[in-house]
Amino acid sequence: MFGFEYYAPTRVIFGRETEGQTGELLKACGAGKVLLHYGGGSAVRSGLLGRIKESLGKAGIQYAELGGVVPNPHLSKVREGIALGLREGVDFVLAVGGGSVIDSAKAIAYGLGEPDKDVWELFTGKRTAQKALPVASVLTIAAAGSETSNSCVITNEETGEKRAYDDDISRPRFAVMNPELTMSLPDYQTQAGCTDIMMHTMERYFTQGGNMELTDEIAEGLLRTVIKYAQILHEDPENYEARAEIMWAGSLAHNGLTGCGNDGGDFVSHMLEHEIGGMFDVTHGAGLAAVWPSWARYVYRNCLGRFVRYAVKVMGVEPGADGEETALKGIEAMEDFYRRIGMPVNMTELGIAPTEEQILQMAKSCAAAVGGCKGSAKLLCEQDFAAIYRMAR
Ligand code: NZQ
Ligand code: ZN
Repeated sequence: MFGFEYYAPTRVIFGRETEGQTGELLKACGAGKVLLHYGGGSAVRSGLLGRIKESLGKAGIQYAELGGVVPNPHLSKVREGIALGLREGVDFVLAVGGGSVIDSAKAIAYGLGEPDKDVWELFTGKRTAQKALPVASVLTIAAAGSETSNSCVITNEETGEKRAYDDDISRPRFAVMNPELTMSLPDYQTQAGCTDIMMHTMERYFTQGGNMELTDEIAEGLLRTVIKYAQILHEDPENYEARAEIMWAGSLAHNGLTGCGNDGGDFVSHMLEHEIGGMFDVTHGAGLAAVWPSWARYVYRNCLGRFVRYAVKVMGVEPGADGEETALKGIEAMEDFYRRIGMPVNMTELGIAPTEEQILQMAKSCAAAVGGCKGSAKLLCEQDFAAIYRMAR
């Protein structure tokens, strides 16, 4: 076990009708004028945005609004938000939506914190942030975990680069989490969300170093819970208990809890997916399902003990004749699960067919994004990334 710092400052307000408290929560944070940020229309159609405005009005909070955030949120929208926020003099950014809206809100908050600097420099590693406006969210999809994470992922749509910037100053002040709000999600988005939630913990689970028993048990419990309730939601999307289990899992999977004591995690599947997302604009969770089985088969021998434990304790498979057989049975069981919930297990099923040239381009860009090589289950470099993309075709 390694020493660690656990910092999870986000206040969580969880349960039915909690969105009605948003105005008071903002007031308690000292917000005067808020940038109300949302996506492509689901929050408008459901009436949620109207209820939020009403809550802000009751609390005497002023606002400017900016909708139109797309999945894999764009840098141009972030720049638009920074310009609007400066004109309007906002002092707080409130995201009403999912990971894309929250990440766009975080990036706008960075831009408003240091308006004389180019926000994209954070994502290319040229500098780190010194200041950011406070951010909070009313969450409408359980998936990215951005409502409690320190991470922000933005796509520069001009260059096709999808890049992350992680910094604790962007951890949201509060997250309003009403599981009912996620009931209007299409099944594909629900299941892509469940896949992403699991992957945030799996990335921290498949490591070579520092794993602690307590962290492992929490991780395995979380993963089994998501597997159970994802399948229930596939049949019964309005099941409140299932929506609630998944929503809470989404926050705990990515707030650092399931990585305490280990070496920081692997995260190669995420980096591989970010390139696919940048080039083909796929749904993040589905992109993860399409690469994970190939990544797993590429690395499992180097991290055999973890794959065996995963197979038995998470996927519930009967141990095989040896560790290798058990590990492979676990990977197959994971693919079966993806298929049961309608997720792809390769890029063809994801609906894309990258050419060899595109694969080499994604591998190169991935290596640039991670600064050369990355991975804890197995350290991987550019040629490995290309090999995994080829396996995942
Ligand atoms: O834009 P609207 O109309 O709201 O539609 C959205 C969008 O099309 C829809 N949706 C959301 N809530 C809904 C709903 N539709 C009906 N009813 C509702 N209640 O769902 C679609 C997907 O929304 P999005 O915000 O893109 O989903 P998600 O939360 O999965 O976010 C994905 C983004 O987060 C990044 C991903 O890379 C991707 O860009 N990630 C962010 C992380 C972080 N900041 O910590 C970590 C993750 O690993 C991930 O990389
Ligand atoms: Zn993710």
